[in-house]
Amino acid sequence: MKISIVYSSNTGNTKQLAEAIKEEIKNENIIYFGNVNEKIPDADLYIIGSWTDKGNASKDIIEFLKTLKNKKIIYFGTAGYGGGSEYYDILFKRIKNDIDSSNIILGHFYCQGRMPIQVKEKYIEMITKNPEDANLKVNIKNFEEALSHPDQTDLKNVRQWINKIIKFNSKEEKRKEE
Ligand SMILES: Cc1cc2nc3c(=O)[nH]c(=O)nc-3n(C[C@H](O)[C@H](O)[C@H](O)COP(=O)(O)O)c2cc1C
Repeated sequence: MKISIVYSSNTGNTKQLAEAIKEEIKNENIIYFGNVNEKIPDADLYIIGSWTDKGNASKDIIEFLKTLKNKKIIYFGTAGYGGGSEYYDILFKRIKNDIDSSNIILGHFYCQGRMPIQVKEKYIEMITKNPEDANLKVNIKNFEEALSHPDQTDLKNVRQWINKIIKFNSKEEKRKEE
């Protein structure tokens, strides 16, 4: 099974996950590893990763997802917001809307990823004007929490996750051949 690992990463968080995935499944037939903006060869299974941009995947990843038909897809992402799977499920539901129903989605994974310092500077500027704004306080706390991510636990989790899916998929493929 030919596998392409394709990602979009501005500041390196998502790329870090992509590299951990590549390392974890290095014995598989990986025919492409790299940015979504390159020429991507045709594969059977696409492992696709993106940063979160205003509640969705990056534009280039969305455009790429739209082109896929009759493929297997595994999605991974990083997002500035943490705090549980509920938000991540909402994000992925949105992404799924841009995936053609002829594809098979094998799973998705998210973890938190640090944000640029400019984001915090903007919050500080805003809270100076509205010192009682509770949402801004939450956002600043979240910014601080995100600073250490992806951390070693995130990387361990993404490795375990991809390993499980790839093993499951191999079993399914073998079963089909029999
Ligand atoms: C313009 C912009 C928009 C963002 N929008 C969101 C968002 O809607 N939700 C979220 O959780 N994180 C958001 N983030 C945070 C990034 O998705 C997060 O820091 C991510 O880990 C960056 O990944 P990268 O290092 O691979 O680029 C945004 C960041 C930027 C710069």
